[in-house]
Amino acid sequence: MTFKKLVLCGLSLAYFSGAVAQEINEETAYRPNFHFTPKKNWMNDPNGLFYADGVYHLFFQHWPYGNVWGPMHWGHATSKDLVKWEEQPIALYPDRFGYIFSGSAVYDTKNTSGFGKDGKIPAIALFTYHDSAKEKTGATDVESQGLAYSLDNGQTWTKYDEGNPVIKNNGIRDFRDPKVTWDWVNNKWIMVLAAKDRAQFYTSDNLKDWKYLSDFEDKVSKHGTWECPDFFPIKVKGTNEVKWVLIQSFYPGGANGGSGTQYYVGDFDGKNFTLDKSFAQKLEKEKGIWLDYGRDNYASVTWGGSPDEQYKKYIIGWMINLDYAFEPPTNIWRGTNTVARELELIKDKNSYRFSIAPVAALKKYVAATETQKKITVNQTAELIKEGKTNLTQAEINLDLKGLKKEKYSLVLSNKTGDTLKFGIDNTAKNLFIDRTASSNSTTFKNRTAKVSKASLTEDQKEVSFKILLDKTSIELFYNDGDKVLTEIFFLKSPFTTLTIEGKSKFVVENLVINQFNFK
Ligand code: FRU
Repeated sequence: MTFKKLVLCGLSLAYFSGAVAQEINEETAYRPNFHFTPKKNWMNDPNGLFYADGVYHLFFQHWPYGNVWGPMHWGHATSKDLVKWEEQPIALYPDRFGYIFSGSAVYDTKNTSGFGKDGKIPAIALFTYHDSAKEKTGATDVESQGLAYSLDNGQTWTKYDEGNPVIKNNGIRDFRDPKVTWDWVNNKWIMVLAAKDRAQFYTSDNLKDWKYLSDFEDKVSKHGTWECPDFFPIKVKGTNEVKWVLIQSFYPGGANGGSGTQYYVGDFDGKNFTLDKSFAQKLEKEKGIWLDYGRDNYASVTWGGSPDEQYKKYIIGWMINLDYAFEPPTNIWRGTNTVARELELIKDKNSYRFSIAPVAALKKYVAATETQKKITVNQTAELIKEGKTNLTQAEINLDLKGLKKEKYSLVLSNKTGDTLKFGIDNTAKNLFIDRTASSNSTTFKNRTAKVSKASLTEDQKEVSFKILLDKTSIELFYNDGDKVLTEIFFLKSPFTTLTIEGKSKFVVENLVINQFNFK
């Protein structure tokens, strides 16, 4: 029998497993070592990601007075390296126009908005006002886009009361999450926003007056409500070719159910976004090109204004699925972000794709490394022995070679009976994460005990994996970030061993185990 019960004002959970009762202190057991969480209470989408003067700003959907979703504010955190975050005072509060839903921020270095004063560069936030009072009347025009500016690098904000909302609602119920980017190709501001079942593009010279340009619909993969888009130009790695990418979150309709985020590669002529022909063919074939095939990466958006943004974008997501966003068994805070990642656009033999990697700055925190050049495995091998590595803050890299039409599972386990299996199945042609046996919380388990899969077009003779582990998450990067799977879990005790299993002989090469230290 297993049950959990809340004790001590939500500070710890007691669980019962067989005859042994144990206490779990959620700060020690579940507060991630290197993934951002708010100190207290509810967090959802990342918002307002901009870079200025060596600092990355991360705002987030926040209900500061409770651990469930509530009237939305923007919380704020800053980082110099996209790994260590420092939480800042709340940035935006609801007002007479409504709650402050998701949106973006830019550093207006040319003062195109005119909000700059005394040589101070304005940061401009564009966000959705959600009018909950109006919503109660059954009205549809409840969401509009508002503007606020900051003259002290995002610490304090002034709402543009005389001009808000800067984009009014013309009758679309879900009309939100404006993402503004400096279009360095056409020298204009460009905004993408989610309008029910499509993305809409707008342009502006001053961030206050917006002109509608066009819509984009996905005719291949049908989804529920569109949310939290992103749209930007990027150079194809190693070339000067510029492509445009639309990143788009949906709920429902994710790769493995619930919520998820796709991306689309194409061209933009200053008005319309059209899919690249080869990408359209790939989309037709695969029925969805996902930023993440795991279930727990939603509302991912990129930083604007970073020094190398023409060829590399930094991105972060909310590490959960909307199907069970209220279920994580933490009470002090609820909501965690993915690790910040780097996106590069690659042209491969078929089409364009992202290569996705954890931010390079993570390497700074590697305290110890163990390597093994080659291990010949006969069905099974122990790659990390009990207690050798702290698997709540580690990165494991390995190549698998000599693979056959068989299933290869990496298995994390501990003495309290939790296991997490992941790897590649050449019989079913997919990558997978199986978390059917990795949860301490019954409610969470009931909602998450499934195998998530990412289809592969061919079976693979050799593959490489990069595995990032924190206390409650796995981020699995396949073949240089060609595909990523992100999932969360809540264990009875931390994982202590890693084994690998196959049906016959194969080889593990270049095993590199990096132990992090974030102190
Ligand atoms: C996505 C979302 C956004 C919205 C925000 C409200 O998770 O629904 O579309 O702006 O959350 O918190």
